[in-house]
Amino acid sequence: MKKRGEKIAMITAYDFPMARMVDSAGVDVILVGDSLGMVVLGYDSTIPVTMEDMLHHAKAVVRGSERAMVVVDMPFMSYQVSAEEALRNAGRLIQEGGAQAVKLEGGEEVAETVARIVRAGIPVMGHVGLTPQSVHQLGGFRVVGKSKKTAQRLLAGAAALEQAGVFSTVLESVPAPLARKITELSKVPTIGIGAGVHCDGQVQVFHDIFGAFTEFLPKHAKRYLNLSETIGEAMSSYVREVKKGEFPTESESFGMNEKILADLDS
Ligand code: KIV
Repeated sequence: MKKRGEKIAMITAYDFPMARMVDSAGVDVILVGDSLGMVVLGYDSTIPVTMEDMLHHAKAVVRGSERAMVVVDMPFMSYQVSAEEALRNAGRLIQEGGAQAVKLEGGEEVAETVARIVRAGIPVMGHVGLTPQSVHQLGGFRVVGKSKKTAQRLLAGAAALEQAGVFSTVLESVPAPLARKITELSKVPTIGIGAGVHCDGQVQVFHDIFGAFTEFLPKHAKRYLNLSETIGEAMSSYVREVKKGEFPTESESFGMNEKILADLDS
């Protein structure tokens, strides 16, 4: 798709119905992101997310998707301790979770781990720029790559990941001109989130763009729908109808043979 100049559309999903919806709408890649820790489980970062959480949600998404590629995030501390442990955990996401690829965060510092996983036959997607699992080290959720030093580190990180064998790299919260430069230098597709329009593809968090998560809206996200408002209105109607005895009506109820009913008293 990169060679053809065809943009890649990617979105997160965390369960069966979401996967069904985005898959049938034609998305190319579904990411079971560890962002589920924030938008589904209510943590204030992705750090508490475990391998068991990722496996649980991955299985549901895989059951719901027919054509899109499913990539699953490796959670915090599932790949940092050693390349062997990383490989074992990547293998679990593929074998037990049903993922077609895994994604992990970091640049040069994870390149050897990436190479180890790729050598075992597991496709790996990289992720540089704002890497939410390192939020405490970065000092918050902020744009990365504005200074010469951080921009050089990003360029080196993306190149090291490519060398290590990633099939694609996510660029998160990276200045658009720098993301463009990385994209031009890279043989594998870049997928941007807050990285401008010149990346080879875009990824967004489902709950952000459809208004299911209302705590805050990242600058890079556009609201295509306001789900929480729509569901809130529908929910009020349901509560009102239940309270007034207007729901259920006959069409949502089951009847039975009158004689059998009468016989119950005899
Ligand atoms: O966890 C996630 O949803 C992600 C995307 C923001 C790229 O990593």
